[in-house]
Amino acid sequence: MEKIEILFDEKQIDESVKRIARQIEKDYDGEEVVFVGILKGAFMFISDLAREVNLNTKIDFISVSSYGQKTTTSGVVKLIKDLDNDIAGKNVIIVEDIVDTGLTLKYLTDLLNQRKPKSIKLCTLLDKVSRRQVNIVNDYVGFQIKDFFVVGYGIDYAQKYRGLPYVGHVILED
Ligand code: IMP
Ligand code: MG
Repeated sequence: MEKIEILFDEKQIDESVKRIARQIEKDYDGEEVVFVGILKGAFMFISDLAREVNLNTKIDFISVSSYGQKTTTSGVVKLIKDLDNDIAGKNVIIVEDIVDTGLTLKYLTDLLNQRKPKSIKLCTLLDKVSRRQVNIVNDYVGFQIKDFFVVGYGIDYAQKYRGLPYVGHVILED
């Protein structure tokens, strides 16, 4: 069994969503933004963020799966579901739940850049900076965390805990 210890509660998450939303509004003043959520983990974060950002926004989703060899830097992710709409000429913000090695975001930014968007920025609720294997820069970050395994607010452990309204640290016990 496992125990969940709260790392960031609803109030802390709400404050960080609002802080990021204000930054995005400032950076894209008067422009349209396409939020690209990475399924499934980012569904809760993107829905809160989209409600908070007062700009013309569009929302699309993409889904990738890891090949399981998280330590190799090539062919690490597979595209499961592509975007529904073209992003050529658009301001894209990729919305992720948590960035670990950075391989997923590296793959996705390379893929989406080929489609000639006007711009691409990266937004993540959680950032495990010490685990980074590739050089990607997160433009908007909710919280930097240590190398904890976390769940909640969209993030799972074996598909469990996505519905929790807070982010928790998983403590394995037997
Ligand atoms: P990356 O490609 O190594 O950056 O992996 C990012 C993905 O790994 C995230 O989108 C999550 O799906 C998953 N992941 C990384 N750390 C955690 C965690 O602590 N809990 C749950 N999933 C995680
Ligand atoms: Mg994910």
